[in-house]
Parts: sequence; C-alpha cells; structure tokens
Amino acid sequence: MKRRIHERVGQTRRRGLTGRVLTLGTISVLAMLVLSACGAEDVKPYTTISPASPNADDIQSLYKLVFWLALVVFIGVQLVIVYSALKFRKPKDEGPRPPQIHGNKRLEILWTIIPAVILLVLLIPTISTLFHQAAEAKSGDLTIDVYGKQWWWEIHYGDAKGQNLGVITANEVHLPVDQKAIIRLHSNNVIHSFWVPQLAGKLDVIPGHVNTMSITPRDLGNFYGECAEFCGTQHAWMRFKVVVQPENDFYTWVNDWRTGNPGTTNQAAPAGIAKAPPSFAICLSCHRVNGMENSAAPVGIDAPATAGPNLTNFGCRDTLAAGMLLNNKQNVEAWLRDPASVKAGNWMATVIKKGTLSEQEVEQLATYLESLKPKGGCMTYSGQPVNKPAAYPAASPAATPGT
Ligand code: CUA
Repeated sequence: MKRRIHERVGQTRRRGLTGRVLTLGTISVLAMLVLSACGAEDVKPYTTISPASPNADDIQSLYKLVFWLALVVFIGVQLVIVYSALKFRKPKDEGPRPPQIHGNKRLEILWTIIPAVILLVLLIPTISTLFHQAAEAKSGDLTIDVYGKQWWWEIHYGDAKGQNLGVITANEVHLPVDQKAIIRLHSNNVIHSFWVPQLAGKLDVIPGHVNTMSITPRDLGNFYGECAEFCGTQHAWMRFKVVVQPENDFYTWVNDWRTGNPGTTNQAAPAGIAKAPPSFAICLSCHRVNGMENSAAPVGIDAPATAGPNLTNFGCRDTLAAGMLLNNKQNVEAWLRDPASVKAGNWMATVIKKGTLSEQEVEQLATYLESLKPKGGCMTYSGQPVNKPAAYPAASPAATPGT
C-alpha cells in the first residue's frame, strides 16, 4: 500500500514538472511576442536607448555594462538551475535518502565574493560618471532656468555668450545644436523631475534647492520630455518638448520671442495680428505676451501657483496644457470654456469656471490666441527630426465643445 502511494506521488511530480516546463515555455513565447510587438512600434519618443548627447551617451555606456553583466549572471544562474534539476532529480526507483548536508564554506565565500566584484565593476564607472557630469554642469555656452509648475514647465533663457536673452517660454525648450546648455532646475511648489531621455538623465526639481545639469545636443530635431516624479493630479500631463536647432535658427527664434506679439486692448493691432478682445484683460493678470502693454504677470520663483504660461507666439505651439491637447481653435475654445473639464485640478480652473466667459468671449479669445504668431509666420525648424513624430505622441483627441 505504502509503495503504491509512493508511485502515485512520483507520477504526480513528473507530470507537475512537464506541466511547469509547458507553462514556462508558453510564458516565454508570449513574452517574446509582446517584446517583438514593442519593437515593431516605430514611434519611441521617450526612448532611453537612442542617446543624442554626450551625457546620454555616458548613461548608455553604464546601461550596456549593467545589461551585459546581468545577462552573464542570468545565463549562469539558469544553467546551474537546469543542470541541478536534471542531475539531482528524483530517480524513478527511489533509493535510500541521499546524504543531508548543511552549509558549504567554500561555496558561501565564493558567492559572496563574485557579487561583490560585480557590484564594484558597476560602482566605479557609475561614480566616475556622476562626478564627471556634475563637473560638466558647472559652466556652458548658455544658461536656462526651468521652473517646475503644477503642471507645466516655465523656461527662462538667461545668458548666452555674454548677453541676456530674456525669453520666457512654456513647455518648449529650444537649444542651439552642439552648444552646452546649463539647465538650472527650480520649484516653488512640490518636487518634480526633469527628464528628456535622449538628452540627459532625469534630475529632480526640488523646492528650495537648485539642481543643475548640462545638455550638449548633438542631433537636430525634436526630443520629448516629461515630469518623472509624481507631483499631483496631472503629473502624467506635464510634458515638454526640446527643439534642437542650428544656431542661426535659434537666434531667429529668440528674436521672434523678444519682438513679441503687440496688439493690446487699447492699441491698434499691426497687420496680421487680430486686435486683442477686451476680455483678454482677464488673461493678462496671470499670463504675459511679449510686446504687449500691461504684460507684467508674475513669473519665476516668486510667482503664485495661479500664474500661467507666457502666451507669446501661442499660435505656433503644437500643444496646449503641457502636451495634453493639440493646439487648434476648437481645443483652445474647450479649454477656455471650462479648463477643469480638460485638465482637472489646474490652477486656471480656480479663476475661469464654466460660464465665466461667454460663448462670444470664448470664440474671440481663441481666434486671438491662434493669431499670436511672429511677423514672418511660425518658424519651421530646420534639420531632419531624428525621431518621429513631429507632434507630441499620444496627445488627447480633440475635446468636443461643451464637454
Ligand atoms: Cu511634475 Cu510630476
């Protein structure tokens, strides 16, 4: 009787092993299918393995080192597991109980030393890269101050080759190619994290402390970034774009911004720019438009949470609300009608609620905002974008009016 039970147990175990091998095989095949599906996707705006700057190259080198070491460890461990499972599996005819052992000093020393050596191999280049990047961030060709807001980015262009550019933008960082930009990160609210995977590692944006990084972009084109530290309701919609341009284009763009978009409530608008509707006065308490009278809304570290993005050249932007909506008249109207329904929790919604602006005002303001473009029209950025798409990936579909 006892013997038969043993046999049955043995059979169950063998079936269990076959079942497990089958399960593992199925999971592996599924995993490979999923991975190959990811590979077929040709839009990888947040790719971390296509570096386009020396800083990102450094990180890529560390990543490769970790990857290959991890692969060697993985294959080694799997081989030992398979070998042990086959070599020491329960024999068909169960013999006497094998000798029971406890502990093996030589093995234990070995498997302490090997991981220690591997960690050391990772530690040395990691620390040297950290120090190298910190030293690189001390001085550069131009200085940019980035303020993390809830939930968007304000970008101040400071000194470039001795002159103060004095440009303030939102959610779009322009950089001249092959020049070292020093990016200083500020916050007057919560902790954010500034991350453009193709250009640099992520760096926290901490209230009361300025973190600094350098970016020397090598390729022309658009690079996508986002906030990488949970910072409240709309953390997921705190995206931005880095446009890397030839130096001449960069300064043309700077001049467009500095010239700004005139046409105030009490000033005739120049040709091509719609005259600001009277209700735009409400906008000016929180937003600036360069070249416009009464454009002195607070910016930077002292600005209250309600202070909004600079609206200069608004008509040239790809998106609204930090990458959430495509920039078109219909979406601007939906936003003005009821900002809370588009991006819940945003600070503009504490001022503009459903019904604050009449339908006529909404239409006039949207027309005006879309008309804010430089004299020569919006710049088309030279250079082939190295990564698709031209617009933000996965921007929300157009919001329907009245929703
Ligand atoms: Cu800012 Cu997450």
